[in-house]
Amino acid sequence: MLEAALAFAEGNRAQALDELKNFLRIPSISTLPEHTPDVRRAAEFLADELRRIGMENVRLIETSGHPLVYADSLHAPGKPTILCYGHYDVQPPDPLDEWLSPPFEPTERNGNIYARGAVDDKGQLWMEVKALEALLKAGPLPVNVRVLSEGEEEVGGEGIATYLREHHEELKCDVALVCDTELFAPDLPTLCVGLRGMIYTEIEVRGARTDLHSGMYGGAAPNPFVALAQVIAKLKDDEGRILIPGIYDGIEAPTAAELEAWKSLPFDEEHYRETEVGSSVLTGEPGYSVLERTWARPTLDVHGMPGGFTGAGAKTVIPAKALAKVSLRLVPGMTPQDTFDKLRSYVATITPKGVSIEVRLIHSGEPVVVGTDNPFIHAATEAMHAVFNKDTVFVRGGGSIPIVGDFARQLHVPAVMMGFGLPDDNLHAPNEKLTSATFTAAQNRSFASCLWRGDESAFQARSLERLEFFKR
Ligand code: BES
Ligand code: MN
Ligand code: MN
Repeated sequence: MLEAALAFAEGNRAQALDELKNFLRIPSISTLPEHTPDVRRAAEFLADELRRIGMENVRLIETSGHPLVYADSLHAPGKPTILCYGHYDVQPPDPLDEWLSPPFEPTERNGNIYARGAVDDKGQLWMEVKALEALLKAGPLPVNVRVLSEGEEEVGGEGIATYLREHHEELKCDVALVCDTELFAPDLPTLCVGLRGMIYTEIEVRGARTDLHSGMYGGAAPNPFVALAQVIAKLKDDEGRILIPGIYDGIEAPTAAELEAWKSLPFDEEHYRETEVGSSVLTGEPGYSVLERTWARPTLDVHGMPGGFTGAGAKTVIPAKALAKVSLRLVPGMTPQDTFDKLRSYVATITPKGVSIEVRLIHSGEPVVVGTDNPFIHAATEAMHAVFNKDTVFVRGGGSIPIVGDFARQLHVPAVMMGFGLPDDNLHAPNEKLTSATFTAAQNRSFASCLWRGDESAFQARSLERLEFFKR
């Protein structure tokens, strides 16, 4: 049956990529209100396709924000139920002038498809859908499947979190299969076992009642941008340590075995600096490796400072207010509420005179580390071994997928994070891409992962031994 499915996938590769391109043409930017209708259009596009391939009970589920897309196929009694997750929303495409081809006109170059959402996450979501299509062509699915896709992942995922909390009975499953992460290196089978959480905030500084002439009032009126810069400068020290009191209290370090495993990953700092970061040096907390700093330590970043005069030319003004978008990434042992409270109290103590500051929470998500001593991780490991003929590496991701923690907390099921992005895919940046070859290969690999038929004896000692030290 798998052979028939793989043959279908191979024969329909061009078709699948064309469909993906149509999906990518819909600018489903969840954070921009003017794109709300496009986000819904993407949801409908996905639902139509799930219907067409033979999934059942396909429907849009309304939330306080963008809709969820649900589908199921539950005809394998006695077999496990897999909840397939991906998100159909994307990040804004700016800065537009750095794209070599338009972000919503998917373009093939050098074996890649360039478009916003190519890998994060429409391309990967499409892999799941195409895997299901091929398996359905070959006969009834070997396992029970539910599909749950959201259109708000990139803005914190509040809608899906509420739905999970209120409807966990309707989502009964044994495992969540999340396709929204990446391979550690090309052709290196990878499972992601941890994600950072985050709080995304806005810091607003207010000074004078209204904007003022900077010649008439400069010297007497407080400048909120200067005040904001002073505040931001006190959030981190020169070496990259976060200065918010107590911020590092209670952090759970990775186990010695996990840290040891990271050391044997094929990672070269200099290559990473050169090809992925492109800065003159790497920065960050002293005493930790790059992988520790990006996977297992909290960070604080400033994303933008809107306000004042930013147009071409010059305007002499003291703005009445200034804004900064500031986020922290959280690791196990930290909670969004506690982190936000600490940030807010600290900012109050460093607020310069003459201005007032408000810190607002925009969205948040918990950090997560998933257990690996379950048959689904074993199945995924074996499946990837069958396809790549290599041992799977277990990594964490520095990014966040807020709902993943809720799969454990609300549905009480493990998550398998099997993603097929590549390290240089430019997520959230100009020229985001999906390597076309990955699409087909990954598709086949996804099929393989669906092979799990409840026969644990098929999973050999190889992966079990290697997983031993991840048990928690
Ligand atoms: N798919 C990413 C997260 C990711 C990337 C995990 C690479 C592991 C490896 C996801 O779409 C994302 O970007 N999430 C946002 C979440 C936030 C806005 C709540 C993020 O991490 O910034
Ligand atoms: Mn994503
Ligand atoms: Mn993303």
